[in-house]
Amino acid sequence: MDTPIYRFKELASTNDEAMRLAQGGAPAFTAVVADSQSSGRGRNGRAWVSPGGTGLYASLVLHPAVRAGDIPLLTLLCGLSAAEAIRETTALDARIKWPNDILVNMRKVAGILCEASIPADGDPIAIAGLGVNVNTLPRDLPERPLFPATSLVAESGHCHEREEILSKWIERTRHWTRVLESGGAREVVAAWNALDALRGAGIRVTQAGGPEVNGTEAGADAEGRLLVLAGDGALHRILAGDVKLNV
Ligand code: BTN
Repeated sequence: MDTPIYRFKELASTNDEAMRLAQGGAPAFTAVVADSQSSGRGRNGRAWVSPGGTGLYASLVLHPAVRAGDIPLLTLLCGLSAAEAIRETTALDARIKWPNDILVNMRKVAGILCEASIPADGDPIAIAGLGVNVNTLPRDLPERPLFPATSLVAESGHCHEREEILSKWIERTRHWTRVLESGGAREVVAAWNALDALRGAGIRVTQAGGPEVNGTEAGADAEGRLLVLAGDGALHRILAGDVKLNV
């Protein structure tokens, strides 16, 4: 089934436009794509640099019919779908850093920002926003201390079609949402774990208002939490946090 794709030359943020459309009744998998964004947002209040002509900036409306406990898996499945889309369209070995940063050769090539709204008189609305550095030249990428920014062209040596990545991402997100909606949480988590970029690595997780956790990255659990095995044998389950490599 086809759903509309709304295209814009420039938007402040495709997530805002997708939320506006969703609140006006747009169906699940309605997509919004912009050639550039003037106020692209990343996770944790960071900006997402969104120059025109080179990157993919897209958002999808989701009306997930899943139980509340599976909501964190929604954010994982959007990243999983993005990693699969990049792998299939570029043949690059795209992997996922929990919860949903997409890395190629341990450098960040894409990210997902999931935002939700719970209207007083309706079902929850979720928006999944995907930003991919597609044909961005290294000199135009933002500075990032760990997991430095990269682009698909920088990693593969040739340009890629933004449209192909977009349609594959929509297709894979539809697929995994159907799986989750029909009780396949374990299948989603298994597919995510198979593409985990940091499995077995020594990591440090900072949590807002919580303790810093150090240990070995042990994948995601059935609820989408990150498992960290500490040196004293304790297994920590992280619901939200920022993951860094212990170097
Ligand atoms: C991150 O890694 O911090 C998430 C980045 C998400 C960026 C995308 S670009 C399309 C959509 N619109 C936004 O304002 N943000 C997301």
